[in-house]
Amino acid sequence: MAEIHNPGAVAEDTAVLAENSLLGKTALITGGSRGIGFAAAKQMGELGAKIILVAQDPSRLEKALEELEKNSLVSQGYAVDLASAEAIAALAEKLKDTEINILVNSAGVMSEKTAKTLRTENAEWHRVLDINLNAPFFMVKHFVPQMVERREGRIINVSACLGRFSGPGTSGGLAPYRIAKAGLNALTKNLSAELGSGKRGVLVDVVCPGHCQTDMGGPSAPRTAAEGAETITWLAAREVNETTKSGHLWEDRAIVPW
Ligand SMILES: NC(=O)c1ccc[n+]([C@@H]2O[C@H](COP(=O)([O-])OP(=O)(O)OC[C@H]3O[C@@H](n4cnc5c(N)ncnc54)[C@H](OP(=O)(O)O)[C@@H]3O)[C@@H](O)[C@H]2O)c1
Repeated sequence: MAEIHNPGAVAEDTAVLAENSLLGKTALITGGSRGIGFAAAKQMGELGAKIILVAQDPSRLEKALEELEKNSLVSQGYAVDLASAEAIAALAEKLKDTEINILVNSAGVMSEKTAKTLRTENAEWHRVLDINLNAPFFMVKHFVPQMVERREGRIINVSACLGRFSGPGTSGGLAPYRIAKAGLNALTKNLSAELGSGKRGVLVDVVCPGHCQTDMGGPSAPRTAAEGAETITWLAAREVNETTKSGHLWEDRAIVPW
């Protein structure tokens, strides 16, 4: 997978996150059973957050929960097919009495290699858009109103450099994936503007994790899943003040162009 990096981009904050900085917080993480979502879950759990994992495959989910438990991290999980708006609504119903402080939309699927626009079957278009764009929208619709009401919350969407207009986002191929990620970037910026760009307590951001060693990224990717998750965790745990920037695309704790 082609990736671009921004050697000129300067990290906003290079400090190590404070121990227990997420104590008392609950993080709901889609795609939390493996890869970058699982790495983010582990990192946030280590900072004190209670973790709620959402993934599709019950056995992989169980394995992820066991791993968190082995590390003494507090967690629970739900097997949900995020392609189904009804299943997401049912999850929201189950969690209606749970205060969610952090929502991470990390679940994702890659396009077929042959998915140039004119060769993309309708079913493939829907498969990729459902998980990479529609599911984050439904998760936001169900779990963000409570954050708005409390004037407190963080939403972190996991995008890709392949969705960037300033990068390889529009250079052709993998059409459903690139277009879904460009849409996820647009959803982030639009929602952030609607919520006062962080001024009303709810921060909405999107991350480019870089090419990572996961089932999606393959074993020869240059970064670990933990490295890909680090900016997600930082966005969840960073301290907020009047100069805090929100509503951006981030890579390695730096704002990068859309
Ligand atoms: N890895 C990279 O190099 C890279 C680069 C740029 C961006 N990203 C983005 O980073 C995010 C995480 O990628 P990753 O590499 O960690 O992927 P991954 O290892 O393939 O994991 C994908 C996760 O998404 C979940 N998922 C997929 N379809 C689902 C469905 N229908 N319902 C519920 N959960 C579903 C999987 O759950 P199950 O285990 O149940 O299937 C799994 O937890 C994605 O959004 C991806 O586009 C990755």
